Amino acid sequence: MTQYILGIETSCDDTAAAIVAEDGRVLSAVTASQIDIHAQYGGVFPELASRAHLTSMLPVVDEVFRAADLTHKDIKAIGVTRGPGLIGSLLVGLNTASALGLGWGIPVIGVNHLRGHLRSVDLNEKRVEYPAIILLVSGGHTFLAHMDEAGEITYLGGTRDDSVGEAYDKVGRMLDLPYPGGPKVDRLAKTGEINIPFPRPMLNEGLEFSFSGLKTAVSKYLRKTADPKHEDIAASFVDAVIDVLMTKCRRALKNNPAKSLVVVGGVAASPQLRAAAGQLCTDLDVKLCLPPLKWATDNAAMIGLAAWDYVKLGLEYDPIPQVRLPIHEY
Ligand code: KG4
Ligand code: ZN
Repeated sequence: MTQYILGIETSCDDTAAAIVAEDGRVLSAVTASQIDIHAQYGGVFPELASRAHLTSMLPVVDEVFRAADLTHKDIKAIGVTRGPGLIGSLLVGLNTASALGLGWGIPVIGVNHLRGHLRSVDLNEKRVEYPAIILLVSGGHTFLAHMDEAGEITYLGGTRDDSVGEAYDKVGRMLDLPYPGGPKVDRLAKTGEINIPFPRPMLNEGLEFSFSGLKTAVSKYLRKTADPKHEDIAASFVDAVIDVLMTKCRRALKNNPAKSLVVVGGVAASPQLRAAAGQLCTDLDVKLCLPPLKWATDNAAMIGLAAWDYVKLGLEYDPIPQVRLPIHEY
């Protein structure tokens, strides 16, 4: 009998569950979004996020089984995000998974949220050819890494301050765009001209990033310009971000063995970033691997697929540095 993994993700403001097969097929996925709750605050309000997860979690799990026409007897293990994320939000998912695992007599696998993003690219279809360079760009993190066939990850460099998603969201707020700003900045950028020379921090050396200076440059420009054109600011900001990201990806691809470039995390939903990464990969003759749009931002399917890796490879710990949490991982 085929068996599946139930993935659960509650690290931030989405209550999500999905049922995933070993080969990455997603049988069903259900997400309860909290955007309406947080929009009035211009960002995620952690206490309200935890409370909303509590209300939505079990109905979301019920619905994911109904949508797949399966029962818990079809589930081999539960994969749940163990961090990083908002602790109150994580606890709702972790406690729910622990209780269900205990009741159903199946293992519960704590999955690193970032490893989930890394695996999002193989959902529904195996895309990555190893070795690969990975660019992870989300709301909480930004880094480059090298990944081999066995899932071994070597960290190459990350941001010294803001993540790319954070920079997008903060610029979105400066431009009076509603939360979450990232996708709206992209949309506005398409209508503007790239005519403001925003800085490209740390462009000429290494694989580290810094985005707080760029964000400050946008804020200063807004303050000192009499009649600022928001669409030109958005277009010039997006251009600066993508220039930095692609320059670093090019450097990483040239200095490391790689058959693929994998771009994951919420910002991988950006059409501008997807297009620029496509151009870079054509230039360097490597395969571009992107998650399908709906799996770029937070979801439970990626957590389910990452949990399969833990089951198959018997990984004892998650090798992504700096983000290891003191929670036991199977
Ligand atoms: O991976 P994700 O859903 O959550 C975290 O793990 O942080 O990423 C969320 C981030 C937010 O900052 C959001 O604004 C950004 O991804 N984002 C985008 C786009 N869609 C989501 N940024 C730029 N362009 C987009 N289309
Ligand atoms: Zn995420």
